[in-house]
Amino acid sequence: MISLDRVRFLLAEAGMERWAGRLPRQVAEALAPGRHGDLERWRHLLEGLPEVKSADLELTAAVVRVGGADEIAPAVREELHRGLRALQPWRKGPFELFGVRIDSEWRSDLKWARVAPHLQPLAGRRVLDVGCGNGYYAWRMAGAGAQWVLGIDPSLLFLVQFAAVRRFMAAPPDVHLLPLGIEAVPPGLKGFDTVFSMGVLYHRRSPMDHLEALRGCLRPGGQLVLETLVVEGDETRVLVPRGRYARMRNVWFIPSPAALVNWLRRCGFQEVRVVDVTPTTPAEQRSTAWMGFESLAQALDPADPGKTVEGYPAPVRAVVLARRAGPPESKG
Ligand SMILES: C[S@@+](CC[C@H](N)C(=O)[O-])C[C@H]1O[C@@H](n2cnc3c(N)ncnc32)[C@H](O)[C@@H]1O
Repeated sequence: MISLDRVRFLLAEAGMERWAGRLPRQVAEALAPGRHGDLERWRHLLEGLPEVKSADLELTAAVVRVGGADEIAPAVREELHRGLRALQPWRKGPFELFGVRIDSEWRSDLKWARVAPHLQPLAGRRVLDVGCGNGYYAWRMAGAGAQWVLGIDPSLLFLVQFAAVRRFMAAPPDVHLLPLGIEAVPPGLKGFDTVFSMGVLYHRRSPMDHLEALRGCLRPGGQLVLETLVVEGDETRVLVPRGRYARMRNVWFIPSPAALVNWLRRCGFQEVRVVDVTPTTPAEQRSTAWMGFESLAQALDPADPGKTVEGYPAPVRAVVLARRAGPPESKG
């Protein structure tokens, strides 16, 4: 499921030997028997997927696609469809594998369309995607020219989904996923040209520590791409929900865009810019056959979709770019 040697090589080559050395143990612990009751079942499902590969890859369009429908027989496609459905819930996507369309809960392409136009071009860059989900964005980053992309996410189901997509590629690009959280990255690594943290900050109990950790991953002059929930207001406004927010547990801090800019500056980032603020709608996050439970529509007040069921402002997300102090960009 993991190309550990390749990841260690890429890290070491980029001056991150410190992390490369710790990885075997970190990964072994993450995959240790008994850490997740479903891992063996998922592994089994992964191994049972049809043994087909294609060199036909589309990583630059909304749907991340591997292979064409005409490359496999209808019976194999049926088997593929069943195997992929068994790996539910698919939260991030969409994907299409040999004609099987995975209609995920999130239209992740819409977020990518809000983020991508503003980035320091990814061509030739070493990228870290923190909380990468099943890797949808990591494939899009490779499609945008990144030299290599490393995604980290502690969810083992997302690792299995990522491996399912990757195994159908005859010659996969250097896109890798490790089942680790941000805590596993040694502090002050200073190795990545671009670091993404999308949809993670509001889940952190200590947002400043998260921003510090992200800064530590970046080489001097590198770019941070932060995407998170925000509320309206000036730089003094931060919502800390009493309990759930939009039916989500583990939502801690939702700042205004101005407060977020202040946090980033306080954490030593420069050239902090809010490049997008967009409400999340049920067109972007919705129930589908590939996830099988309720979604955003059921988290909004039926009498006032401008509010969550708990009475808070409905979800709005911002994309913020920032730079780690250092020499001016020489790449891209
Ligand atoms: C709301 S999802 C966002 C996924 C994706 N980045 C996106 O923007 O659509 C938050 C992700 O953070 C992951 N996560 C949870 N704890 C984490 C940690 N300590 N370090 C990194 N990622 C974490 C979760 O497993 C989940 O996939």
